[in-house]
Amino acid sequence: MDPASATLGGRIAEVGNEIDRAFDRLLPVPGDSRSRLYEAMRYAAIGGGKRIRPLLVLAGCDLFGVDRERAVRAALAVECIHVYSLIHDDLPCMDDDDLRRGKATVHRAFDEATAILAGDSLHALAFEVLADEATHEDPFVRTELTLELARASGPSGMAGGQMMDLTAGGMKLDLAAVTRLQQLKTGALIGWCLEAAAIMGRAPPDGRNRLRGYARDLGLAFQIADDLIDHEGCEEKAGKRVGKDQGAGKETFVSLLGPERARRQAEALVEQAIDHLDSFGEQAGLLRAVARFAVERDH
Ligand code: IPE
Ligand code: IPE
Ligand code: MG
Ligand code: MG
Ligand code: MG
Repeated sequence: MDPASATLGGRIAEVGNEIDRAFDRLLPVPGDSRSRLYEAMRYAAIGGGKRIRPLLVLAGCDLFGVDRERAVRAALAVECIHVYSLIHDDLPCMDDDDLRRGKATVHRAFDEATAILAGDSLHALAFEVLADEATHEDPFVRTELTLELARASGPSGMAGGQMMDLTAGGMKLDLAAVTRLQQLKTGALIGWCLEAAAIMGRAPPDGRNRLRGYARDLGLAFQIADDLIDHEGCEEKAGKRVGKDQGAGKETFVSLLGPERARRQAEALVEQAIDHLDSFGEQAGLLRAVARFAVERDH
């Protein structure tokens, strides 16, 4: 293992623990009839996933010396949105999956109504976490974080991309259409991670633009890697069912270009993402490592 990936492995584990602890504090199970809802949220949120989005927030915040505790709150907020999106994505009315992060999906382990409410609740909690004074003393910073996360997760972002994805089954899409779909479905939330770092770190416009460029290329590469895992990955390692996209007649980079060219496209995007980080020098080492991991991963 080369030193960069050894360090990255350590950082992923560290961030995973930090986010687990933060969810544990955020979700104490109440002694009333809401306990099932809290149990479902904890089941989905604690102890799983690569935590790539939190890692991006924290690595981005490191560039600007943002206080760790505050950065963790922003990282927790985006993971709340992400976990909610996964719970809903797996529902029978969406992808109808029964395996997620190596265990039964929430609607399988609990029931559909509880899964919907667990997703709704994590969605709301993301904004509660951001709007809290503990996230930043400046209300303008908190408002900007909240506004940008709302944009990235709503109809102009993740939810809009999910709608496009659902209507695209069996339709002929070209590369431009697939790119747009994936930028909304996956790219917008990844984009917020770096945007949040720039907002909290009061990055100058030039730095913020470079981070946007990095996030745009990384987001697309990340989703191509997800589609490659669906196409040729292994269920054990991925922790979720594979071969679903083709089964649903979904057009992806892999279906349009074939796996070889799709992989090369993802690799080229990662190099392009890394190029945007030039002016940050050595300090952006972790962001570079995350970008490489995004396409080399098998889970
Ligand atoms: C899966 O996201 C869904 C996509 C948006 C591609 P991740 O691959 O980040 O899933 P976890 O968080 O590691 O489970
Ligand atoms: C889901 O994309 C993206 C979300 C916004 C949740 P996929 O449907 O491809 O994600 P997986 O493959 O189920 O993780
Ligand atoms: Mg889906
Ligand atoms: Mg899915
Ligand atoms: Mg997928």
